Amino acid sequence: MHQMKDDIKYILADENKIAETCDRLAAQINADYPDHSRELVFVIVLKGSVLFATDLIRRINRPCTMEFMKVSSYGAATISSGQIKIHLDLMRESLEQYDLLIIEDIVDSGRTLSRLTQLLKNRNANSVKTCTLLDKPSRREVPFSPDYCGRVVEDEFVVGYGLDYCEEYRNLPY
Ligand code: IMP
Ligand code: MG
Repeated sequence: MHQMKDDIKYILADENKIAETCDRLAAQINADYPDHSRELVFVIVLKGSVLFATDLIRRINRPCTMEFMKVSSYGAATISSGQIKIHLDLMRESLEQYDLLIIEDIVDSGRTLSRLTQLLKNRNANSVKTCTLLDKPSRREVPFSPDYCGRVVEDEFVVGYGLDYCEEYRNLPY
């Protein structure tokens, strides 16, 4: 029988390491959003960031809500506007009173998050920040740096803990 673990070259982060990363990121986010009078909305980018997001928001100690988006980006790297397809959108019309924190699994070329951030800023959210579990800065094709980053990784393909290869491996806990 096909064993998923046989396909894994090495373990980048085990469950303990991931928990430590979530602790650190949540502590930063808790400290950075002290104004509890405004709603903090976690915008969870489907599908890869789902496992990370559920671990992260369990550690958030202020009122917050969750929304989901599914997007794909395409087109020339030099064209920074419009080249994002929205498959599932937010369930809110006006964003003016919200602080949005986009949760992503990994930043690669930077297209997805730079375009999604711009799109939500254009909808007049009070603030839009980004939190990614992993970042591959060596792969960047458009300028982008996440506000919160769990870990910088080399140019290697990463699976597990939500990240997939052809939709598989998301269920690996590491
Ligand atoms: P970007 O728009 O190029 O930054 O694309 C980021 C998206 O590419 C992520 O949300 C992932 O879906 C996917 N991706 C990039 N690198 C990896 C990887 O190493 N493993 C799994 N998915 C990846
Ligand atoms: Mg993704």
